[in-house]
Amino acid sequence: MALVSPAADQKHIRLSTDIPSGLFFVTDVGKVRQIVLNLLSNALKYTDKGEVTLRATIGASGLRIEVVDTGIGIVAEDQPRIFDPFWQADRRLTRKAGGAGLGLAIVDRFTHSLDGSLRVESEPGHGTTFAVLIPPGALPGTSTSSAALRTAGGPSFGTVWTR
Ligand SMILES: Nc1ncnc2c1ncn2[C@@H]1O[C@H](COP(=O)(O)OP(=O)(O)OP(=O)(O)O)[C@@H](O)[C@H]1O
Ligand SMILES: [Mg+2]
Repeated sequence: MALVSPAADQKHIRLSTDIPSGLFFVTDVGKVRQIVLNLLSNALKYTDKGEVTLRATIGASGLRIEVVDTGIGIVAEDQPRIFDPFWQADRRLTRKAGGAGLGLAIVDRFTHSLDGSLRVESEPGHGTTFAVLIPPGALPGTSTSSAALRTAGGPSFGTVWTR
């Protein structure tokens, strides 16, 4: 959050989190962090007024992350393409906003490498919600319990966020 809050302040967008305290999930935290960062930075980039919300919950199906914005939205026919590398909806806008069109391609790769799934819902002119679901025990090549014992050397894991 600290990484993206200056951008939110600058655009006068309310940035809020809805994350129960004390969540614990064993995962590749480096990847999860990058997923959240890319989704939040998009939400802020493509929102001019309103708010951006980060939600996280843990249930039987795993860790669910949602990034909700009240921005420009994505038309239905573009939605299947947004995860393609270098794809951007509006060259004029992105020339101004910057970026290479890689943020969501990375989100897609990292989510799938954790056996997760990714969903987008959007209403043009009203906003977009990205939802990522990462099932429990999704450390490639390792079972959750053995990964939990291997703190040094292997993939990083631990609590996803502390507030
Ligand atoms: N929250 C959003 N609201 C509206 N459009 C979005 C949103 N997130 C992504 N998009 C659209 O999907 C395209 C691809 O997003 P992606 O994050 O891959 O690239 P980028 O943001 O343009 O560049 P980069 O992430 O490499 O800086 C964006 O250019 C934009 O058109
Ligand atoms: Mg991006």
